Amino acid sequence: MTTPTIELKPSSSPLSDQERDAILAGPGFGRHFTDHMVTVKWTEGRGWHDGQLVPYGPLSLDPATNVLHYAQEIFEGLKAYRRPDGSVATFRPDANARRFQASARRLAMPELPVETFVEACDVLVQHDKAWVPAHGGEESLYLRPFMIATEVGLGVKPASEYLFVVIASPAGAYFPGGVKPVSIWASQDRVRAVPGGMGDAKTGGNYAASLLAQAEAAAQGCDQVCYLDAVEHKWVEELGGMNLYFVYGDRIVTPALTGSILEGITRDSLLEVARDLGYESVEERVSIDQWREDTANGTLTEVFACGTAAVITPVGTVKTDGAEWTQGNGEPGPATMRLRDALLDIQRGKAEDKHGWMHVLG
Ligand code: PLP
Ligand code: COI
Repeated sequence: MTTPTIELKPSSSPLSDQERDAILAGPGFGRHFTDHMVTVKWTEGRGWHDGQLVPYGPLSLDPATNVLHYAQEIFEGLKAYRRPDGSVATFRPDANARRFQASARRLAMPELPVETFVEACDVLVQHDKAWVPAHGGEESLYLRPFMIATEVGLGVKPASEYLFVVIASPAGAYFPGGVKPVSIWASQDRVRAVPGGMGDAKTGGNYAASLLAQAEAAAQGCDQVCYLDAVEHKWVEELGGMNLYFVYGDRIVTPALTGSILEGITRDSLLEVARDLGYESVEERVSIDQWREDTANGTLTEVFACGTAAVITPVGTVKTDGAEWTQGNGEPGPATMRLRDALLDIQRGKAEDKHGWMHVLG
């Protein structure tokens, strides 16, 4: 398939340097957007066409547009980092592109070629390069590629028209005041995904479904909800937007992929980074009872969550029906921080990129 070339129609009124710098001084997460976006259309019989870089702005949709009713939508999340020499690089965009294709297959949507996904991200980052925060801290430019069904009509069927869009948002450090452990509510009755469902697809419906469980976690005084498997309510799966890792001394374990867990790119990268640092890293099933017992007997020394937005987040306390426990002394553990620094150093261009993960844009 040929890659549509992206036509450049840049904004005639981008924000001034002063306005942009004011935003970059405290960007938060997902609150501010850069001057441009990239759009590419797909139509049945014609395929991908009409790639454009245009000023960031509202999409105009007919009220009967398919996605508004039946949620045929998928998205991705990846980051661009400023390197010590001032250039910028994205982290494993090809891996996001392949996961986007897998999500598209699950939602009966057309697959965007990997090279078009990467080109769209590249063109946006290159045009809005001034929005990539300075090297040195943990700030980055978060890219949000997504695709929606744009056919107008209320028939329940795969749409005949789609729109792929990439937007970008500067992201501040996840922990502006230093890394702090999160508390976890392991829900015994709300599930995120079922066997044969959409748990391994990155689609908006999974996040809509997580909001009530997240509110219940908050009512329990916890920061994040942890999902168990839907059949036995026993096997640990993941958090609403992060995968989990368990540290057993120099052996680190992440729940095995079962089809209902999102195949996180941070999770996958950490399997390798951990091996590089001399840990044994494995994918295994972990039960909620094992989590509690191994914490009590001292073999499970640290637990952390990981994802693009949060990088690595230590888990402090865990609460579930009838039980509550604290990991270690409740502070970020040494393996968690070592892995976090090692991954961030690769992403920020401070450490050797021996796996060829960084896609440098100049
Ligand atoms: N699990 C869920 C449900 C997510 O939304 C995310 C975030 O993207 C992750 C895990 C972590 O995936 P990644 O490391 O690719 O960001
Ligand atoms: C990410 O980490 O990129 C996510 O997508 C998590 C959340 C913001 C949905």
